[in-house]
Amino acid sequence: MKRIGILTGGGDCPGLNAVIRAVTKSALAKGFEVVGYKDGYEGLILNQWIPLNQAMVSGILVQGGTILGTSNTANPYRWAEPSLKGRIRFKDVSRKAISNYRKLDLHGLIVVGGDGTMNIANRFHKEGVPIVGIPKTIDNDLPGTDVTFGFETAVITAAEAIDKVHTTAQSHHRAMVVEVMGRYAGWIALYSGVASGGDVILIPEIPYEMKYVYKKIHERNRLRKNFSIIVVAEGAKPKGGDLTITRRVARSTDPIRLGGVGLKIAADIEKNLKIESRAIVLGHVQRGGPPTPFDRLLATQFGSHAVHMVFNRDFGKMVVYRNNAVSSVMLEEAARGLKLVPPSHHLIASARAVGTSFGDC
Ligand code: F6P
Repeated sequence: MKRIGILTGGGDCPGLNAVIRAVTKSALAKGFEVVGYKDGYEGLILNQWIPLNQAMVSGILVQGGTILGTSNTANPYRWAEPSLKGRIRFKDVSRKAISNYRKLDLHGLIVVGGDGTMNIANRFHKEGVPIVGIPKTIDNDLPGTDVTFGFETAVITAAEAIDKVHTTAQSHHRAMVVEVMGRYAGWIALYSGVASGGDVILIPEIPYEMKYVYKKIHERNRLRKNFSIIVVAEGAKPKGGDLTITRRVARSTDPIRLGGVGLKIAADIEKNLKIESRAIVLGHVQRGGPPTPFDRLLATQFGSHAVHMVFNRDFGKMVVYRNNAVSSVMLEEAARGLKLVPPSHHLIASARAVGTSFGDC
């Protein structure tokens, strides 16, 4: 009997379980066995996997997280091993991972992940591993696809939080700063900020100047709107300034973890405008909870399409959603940098038209 493997890599994201379910059910229907590697590429490196059957994927469509576990540090080309002196030593264990893959005699491997996972998938593909990628990330920053599942769920979580903060801002006449995730891209901040009527939206793609943030707050005060909502992406940075880094994860391919820019902005507003301000850092709540129906639909289509591609030996590609249809692109394209918000984006133009400031004028 032929077998398909699946792993989920990178940060968890709502919709991963929906993909696992779709892959398992459609592969079983085509007569494949399915094995799920545990904790992303770590399972492939350590040869840890579980068989997936109908019972195991029953009821997981609506659950956040991933039943397979994941890792955003396990990279077969840069595997961290503790050395004798307690320091981390990086080793290339890709040969071992590929030989583990071959031992299971798989017909193909489906990897679900973000840019890091797709980069590794692309290298595996070049080394002869029959692989298909499925894009996931709340950040929506993968090139090649118009949207990733998990993004809409995160936007709704962020928008609900911004909505709730409005009442305190209004009642206490405060400036409330809400910091959202997104890494180096401003998609979550832009979508949730516009949806929830943020007065100022700060994104990494448009470096901000505090004088323009103050200008917007003053303008609102002049109109007797004595509160303001500032939505800031964790990757936003001042013009000529740096990112705000909260920690470094040495084992990770991208060791930088962002966070804290919202606290700085709230402190600056309070100090310079003498307006009471608070910052809320939403953090990982944006990665949790049940996926929205749209994300479930996307995940289900991605999963079944990936199995179809494995069945047809259409490897070295990533499933995408483009122009309202599911198709695929070469992994090369998916592994090429990040999809950032173009400053000419139509939503930025609409937001500016209704008076939203992006901290640049
Ligand atoms: O890529 C998803 C994401 O949640 C980013 O938005 C965020 O910057 C990062 O992962 C956080 O990573 P970690 O879970 O390692 O803190």
